[in-house]
Amino acid sequence: MLIAGNWKMFKTGRETSGFCDALQEQVAELEGVEVVVCPPFTSLSEALGRGLTVFAQNVHWDPEGAYTGEVSPAMLRDLGVQGAIVGHSERRLYFGETDMSVARRARFALDEGLRVIACVGETVEQRESGDTELVLKVQVEAVAFAAGEHDDLVIAYEPVWAIGTGRTATPEQAQEAHAFVKAMLDVPVLYGGSVKPENAEELLSQPDVDGALVGGASLDVDMFSAICRTAASLS
Ligand code: PGA
Repeated sequence: MLIAGNWKMFKTGRETSGFCDALQEQVAELEGVEVVVCPPFTSLSEALGRGLTVFAQNVHWDPEGAYTGEVSPAMLRDLGVQGAIVGHSERRLYFGETDMSVARRARFALDEGLRVIACVGETVEQRESGDTELVLKVQVEAVAFAAGEHDDLVIAYEPVWAIGTGRTATPEQAQEAHAFVKAMLDVPVLYGGSVKPENAEELLSQPDVDGALVGGASLDVDMFSAICRTAASLS
């Protein structure tokens, strides 16, 4: 199982080193779970070399160029970063990310030897109007067309209405969405959206849930390591 902590725009470099050492101490003995941290770009180097897998939160689709504010796969690899999240719903919502740009980012990162967590998920309006499967189909197919069933590709199913809201998908809703995604693209699928120590077990024990992408709860060492322990106990 893979448990990834998406820190979003939290934690300076100084906060990162102590946090990662404490986390590593708590998860070092766990078997059957890979623990990934995804700090902001500026804290990546502080997270590296502490026994954890380190991913960035975004990556560009070209090797270099006039792209102010962007970072290329080679720049991440140069630091020692192993992978990147692409297409998080906050990037889609606030930064104009589209299915096309997400697919391009995923494809190029994989080509350049990075691992990728590509995020998909429906909004509350889309779920309520019965369009969940249509939205997932379009989003997943874009990534599938660009990248295929690549060994280093993981999808994260993150219903937008569950992110940072304290409202989680029920285990049945998660299982249904994960099975739907896997029928299109047979890669591991993480669940994301208000995963906490209290709900981790029921979500992670679903047959098609292969791990979690954790936001808020990944900022707290005790909460995040508790989720990692749950994952290890289930694998
Ligand atoms: P959350 O965020 O766990 O705070 O809901 C999940 C995510 O955005 O990846």
